[in-house]
Amino acid sequence: MSKKLYIETLGCAMNTRDTEHIIAELRTKESYELCSDAKQADLIMINTCSVREKPVNKLFSEIGVFNKLKKEGAKIGICGCTASHLGDEIFKRAPSVSFVLGARNVSKVVKAVNTEKFLDVDIDYDESTYAFSEFRGSSYKAFVNISIGCDKKCTYCIVPHTRGDEISIPPELIIQEARKAAKNGAKEIFLLGQNVNNYGRRFSSKRDEKMDFSDLLNMISEIEEVERIRFTSPHPLHMDDKFLETFANNPKVCKSMHMPLQSGSTHILEEMKRGYTKEWFLNRALKLRELVPEVSISTDIIVAFPGESDEDFEDSMDVLEKVRFEQIFAFKYSARPLTKAAEFTNQVDNAVASERLKRLQTRQNDILDEISSSNSKNILEVYFEELRNNGMVAGRSDNNALVQVEGNEELLGTIRKVLITNPRRLALYGEIVK
Ligand code: SAH
Ligand code: SF4
Ligand code: F3S
Repeated sequence: MSKKLYIETLGCAMNTRDTEHIIAELRTKESYELCSDAKQADLIMINTCSVREKPVNKLFSEIGVFNKLKKEGAKIGICGCTASHLGDEIFKRAPSVSFVLGARNVSKVVKAVNTEKFLDVDIDYDESTYAFSEFRGSSYKAFVNISIGCDKKCTYCIVPHTRGDEISIPPELIIQEARKAAKNGAKEIFLLGQNVNNYGRRFSSKRDEKMDFSDLLNMISEIEEVERIRFTSPHPLHMDDKFLETFANNPKVCKSMHMPLQSGSTHILEEMKRGYTKEWFLNRALKLRELVPEVSISTDIIVAFPGESDEDFEDSMDVLEKVRFEQIFAFKYSARPLTKAAEFTNQVDNAVASERLKRLQTRQNDILDEISSSNSKNILEVYFEELRNNGMVAGRSDNNALVQVEGNEELLGTIRKVLITNPRRLALYGEIVK
């Protein structure tokens, strides 16, 4: 008889993919079925994120909630980045938890559920050649990992401490996975890694031929059934001309680019150890707009990194003006354990941080209003993926705008031309023309 698994996923797309891998392993090797009600579950899992402080505190209160509602004998397992860095402490603070599985130990989930108390948070464990069982949350879009870990040591970031050093997944495995997903109907392949355009620098074992991320993009685009390729996150430092030109010239590569700025100030970028300057970032963004006029650029910005002066913050505002990002993810700096920046003594006052974040977001909203209204009467190619409750169907344009039209499930999985009639800040509304 099958058992029931309830799993909650926090954090980034890599966690989303890890959750799919966990479901796949437990389905095929332990006959678990996914369920959406924690009260019914035999196993409750939380796939955690620790990139900022807030989600970590939330974890222990959530475990408390699950303790109360779970059925007799049900297990609780914690995995992901918070599992990696808190490890054994999770057992101490929450004795009801039966296993703690680090973000780089996902392939051990079957062993974890079959062990009385299981702890494995080894960040040196190499999962880069492990062929996971198959499960996908969406039949239209397939996440495919291309690397594990991260070799950068940005001073604010906990990820290298939770996911370990960077190792590229062998291209054969990636192609095999992409091919299989595409044959099963996924027209879009979404490549994942912390540093995708650093691909190919180090594999698990020595390889004869050299290859980089541009080569990988071109290889995947040769799979006939693949119509769209997306990826996240690329690093601005590795945006060389070859990469930008491959991005521009390969018609299957979607024209939206994530360019995580973090700060517009060269001085703060140095303190963050990002490896590029304000000028390099602007040069790359403007070159990208020149090569691909329809491109949309998204970014991540941290406000109030330790030592950020008013002048430094104005540099971030200046990059906002000059690049006019189509989307931003901006957060206040949050000091994280194990990181260098947490030891810096020049932390910025919280009230100043809040004020800066508000200013940044207010200005960005105005920019977005201008950008979205310029889409009026445009015709965009949209891949429809999701039925909404209000009789609308949602999808993404090639350059990643969220588009909604009236329609039904027949639109799902199709790519159609849409005339934008009502552009709004968060979504563009339109009509199918073809
Ligand atoms: N590898 C990706 C980012 C992964 S973390 C990259 O380099 O772009 C995702 C985002 O979380 C980062 O881009 C950063 O903006 C944010 N972030 C990471 N650590 C943070 C911290 N300590 N405080 C606030 N935001 C942080
Ligand atoms: Fe963190 Fe920097 Fe690695 Fe991104 S590149 S995951 S921000 S250390
Ligand atoms: Fe969070 Fe780990 Fe992703 S810290 S953002 S889940 S890599």
